[in-house]
Amino acid sequence: MRTHYCGQISEDLLGETVSICGWVHRRRDHGGVIFIDLRDRYGLVQVVVDPDTQSAFALAERVRSEYVLNMSGRVRERPEGTINPDMATGRIEVLCQELTVLNEAATPPFQLDEAEVNEETRLHHRYVDLRRDAMQHNIMLRARLTQAIRRYLDGAGFLDIETPMLTKATPEGARDYLVPSRTHAGSFFALPQSPQIFKQLLMMSGFDRYYQIVRCFRDEDLRADRQPEFTQLDVETSFMDEAGITGLMEAMARQVFKEVLGVELPDPFPRMTYAQAMDRYGIDRPDLRIPLELVEVADRVADCDFKVFADPAKDPGGRVAALRVPGGGALPRSQIDGYTEFVGRYGAKGLAYIKVNEAGTGRNGLQSPIVKHLSDEALAGILQRTGAADGDLIFFGAAPARVVNDSLGALRVQLGQDLAMVEAGWRPLWVVDFPMFEWDGREQRWQSLHHPFTAPCVDDPAQLEAAPGAALSRAYDMVMNGTELGGGSVRIHRQDMQRAVFNVLGIGPQEASEKFDFLLRALRYGAPPHGGIAFGLDRWAMLMAGAGSIREVIAFPKTQTAHCPLTGAPSPTDVRQLRELHIRLREQPQASES
Ligand code: AMO
Ligand code: AMP
Repeated sequence: MRTHYCGQISEDLLGETVSICGWVHRRRDHGGVIFIDLRDRYGLVQVVVDPDTQSAFALAERVRSEYVLNMSGRVRERPEGTINPDMATGRIEVLCQELTVLNEAATPPFQLDEAEVNEETRLHHRYVDLRRDAMQHNIMLRARLTQAIRRYLDGAGFLDIETPMLTKATPEGARDYLVPSRTHAGSFFALPQSPQIFKQLLMMSGFDRYYQIVRCFRDEDLRADRQPEFTQLDVETSFMDEAGITGLMEAMARQVFKEVLGVELPDPFPRMTYAQAMDRYGIDRPDLRIPLELVEVADRVADCDFKVFADPAKDPGGRVAALRVPGGGALPRSQIDGYTEFVGRYGAKGLAYIKVNEAGTGRNGLQSPIVKHLSDEALAGILQRTGAADGDLIFFGAAPARVVNDSLGALRVQLGQDLAMVEAGWRPLWVVDFPMFEWDGREQRWQSLHHPFTAPCVDDPAQLEAAPGAALSRAYDMVMNGTELGGGSVRIHRQDMQRAVFNVLGIGPQEASEKFDFLLRALRYGAPPHGGIAFGLDRWAMLMAGAGSIREVIAFPKTQTAHCPLTGAPSPTDVRQLRELHIRLREQPQASES
């Protein structure tokens, strides 16, 4: 049926007869001659149907968009003036000799080259949506990405080992998806949030280097870079420390970026501590392409009369930070008001600013609602600390540190985009030295910043329990252009330390043994030092494809409300099936969203 792909027909085939299959991308009737752009996975080729080939011409007259055709014909040069330099096959065309309609197609729900199609509609007709050029490109890029990853890891001695999908809860901080058991009334499996514990057990079993490209399930609030089911590249190694693991993983990233995109990433990746990242960028996944930084000015304003600044400056949990925007003095008032509203979404109560008209002339050269509240020394200190020059604008955040970091961190990224300051290129980095725990004020308890199997930097369990807030962990995150691509750590491999961490987290011996007995037991039977990492494969693909959401690189994703418009999942089930699963509904199911 087929001798060549549409998109691969070139001038090398001039004069030859080819047989091709594909979809009708476009059909144009030029008074007597019919042109069909036939499309397959490799691209388009122009087919010419001449009235002289009568039966083919009769068929071509009734062909419509997205009909599936098989045709054979001779490859010839396009006549002068009809050459299309924008098309890979733009110098040639195929003169049709025989045409078969393999299948008709209803009018497509949207034109494949239509720019703005509503996402719900796209997902509802995903099989058509995936035919679009951009989606074909994304899905094929993703396949090349996984190939390159596998090639690298296979070559480096990693074993691909599968782990269970029907399992017990894994604590990665999200809600579990549960699967009711028919054979164990009232019991449930959890779908894995990650293979974390299993990969650690594989190290205890001596496999030394493991990887898996694996689906993970997390019932959490969705965003552009989060899906309820997503794919991890999951990795674990034995007898390696953080330098060894991060070194190997960044070498993999360099190789994969080179193979897939032809991009050379830096060697080595820069490293930054969590504390530095928060100080300078307000976030633990800084986008280094944006040349703006926060600077601390609490010490400069602690003694002023302006309570908005002085109070958080004197509060150990507070922060007063400045963000200098070069050339920002030109921003109109309305835009500054817009940014004030923007930071409000992150809890900031205001957005003080100073426009620097003439830095050399003291306070007269500064334009701002707050200069009247600040002493000459404070103003001079702020100018010096921020390095502000004439024409610049300085924004301020003064609040609990978390609010300042969240709001100015987000404002920095927004300004970078609005003022076209995002530099081109790829800026990976490792963020290291995370705190082990963070205090959850609402629940009044410590939470793991990563997960409870992450090793602390201290060796003594008693020391960890005595001062959990001071402990740093042996964790590392790989960040690229403001996205967290992956995170991992050296793990706890001693039972006493694992128990100490559970204690800090308020997981008592009873709960620990109910939830993690199998891990605690395994730690007694010869657990090697081990560590690893997991990458968000969808996020890698998204960044590499230049897509705005991971939904653009997943063949069949869910919507923001964790629903699949294509299949209608999740959907109610019949009572008989529920009865078998020992389940009775508390409420009648609602009509599902369409
Ligand atoms: P973590 O929870 O950081 O670590 O997940 C690893 C990476 O997976 C990606 N990711 C997601 N991608 C899409 N949708 C989601 N809902 C989602 N959640 C996470 C991110 C993230 O960096 N077991 C540990 C890893 C380890 O310690 O080895 C873990 O799962 O890119
Ligand atoms: P005033 O109107 O004289 O009180 O000046 C208040 C200025 O400080 C306004 O520009 C506010 O937007 C700003 N402001 C108020 N609260 C904060 C805050 N928590 N952080 C930063 N700026 C603030």
